[in-house]
Amino acid sequence: MNIVPVVEAAFAQAGIDKTEVSAVAFTRGPGLIGSLIVGVSFAKAFALSRNLPLIEVHHMQAHVLAHFADRPHPQFPFLCLTVSGGHTQIVLVRDYHDMEVLGQTLDDAAGEAFDKTGKLLGLDYPAGPLVDKWAQQGTPRFPFPEPQIPGLDFSFSGLKTSFLYFLREQREADPDFIANNMADFCASVQSRIVSVLMNKLVKAAAQTGITTIALAGGVAANSGLRQALETTGQKLGWQTFIPAMAYCTDNAAMIGIAGYYKYLAGQFAEQTVTPVARWG
Ligand SMILES: Nc1ncnc2c1ncn2[C@@H]1O[C@H](COP(=O)(O)OP(=O)(O)O)[C@@H](O)[C@H]1O
Ligand SMILES: [Mg+2]
Repeated sequence: MNIVPVVEAAFAQAGIDKTEVSAVAFTRGPGLIGSLIVGVSFAKAFALSRNLPLIEVHHMQAHVLAHFADRPHPQFPFLCLTVSGGHTQIVLVRDYHDMEVLGQTLDDAAGEAFDKTGKLLGLDYPAGPLVDKWAQQGTPRFPFPEPQIPGLDFSFSGLKTSFLYFLREQREADPDFIANNMADFCASVQSRIVSVLMNKLVKAAAQTGITTIALAGGVAANSGLRQALETTGQKLGWQTFIPAMAYCTDNAAMIGIAGYYKYLAGQFAEQTVTPVARWG
């Protein structure tokens, strides 16, 4: 049970006392049910013991609201490409509490595409950061087809299969293909995943006429994606927002921020609240 020492450490690091807390925000979902149960149970017990209101937070909305940890932050309405190990979404953010998913993945998430490709290469999980590291030393010289998915939705499972078949074919001719081409292969994979994400983002911006564009989620830490957003943003006259690295991958600050805006709006949860693994 790590949650008790983690909470103690957080209070110590923040330099505040438990009596100063006005509400308890927690992740209700979506996510792995085991971790959600621990968080929800602890939040409920903590709130009950101190007679504090509870605030439920949606994990993906919190990734978007992580932008409000820093200034300048995006003005509403803005588009947010939210990319993580479990999600790939283009979100129209009208307000702190009003978000609409315009497009999302029909199968694997972008982070999953990085992680599964990394596994093919024998890299440790989560492989996203490692693929990124190798990619920065390589040239994207292996071409992979762009998935043809209508609208603003995504699909990464076909792409993952084409990476697999490509590697199989190359290794038949050269058993050391991976060792000899790690950087270029990672650069090619990363470049294709990034271009799939960017092409849909450009389409969403054109369709909505919105030019304030943000990135969020674990994959927003990807160097290729961060650079592509900047370059494309400059070309198309977007105002772009990329969170600091610490606010890209899962973090508690973003749950606190989302909780803060719900607190201001008076949106509280009941003690009977339960976690939800899948939450639209
Ligand atoms: N630099 C990076 N390049 C590509 N993917 C990355 C990078 N850093 C993290 N990721 C990916 O982000 C995902 C984790 O996202 P995160 O939001 O922290 O967790 P979760 O998906 O559990 O909510 C993993 O798939 C990981 O490989
Ligand atoms: Mg996440």
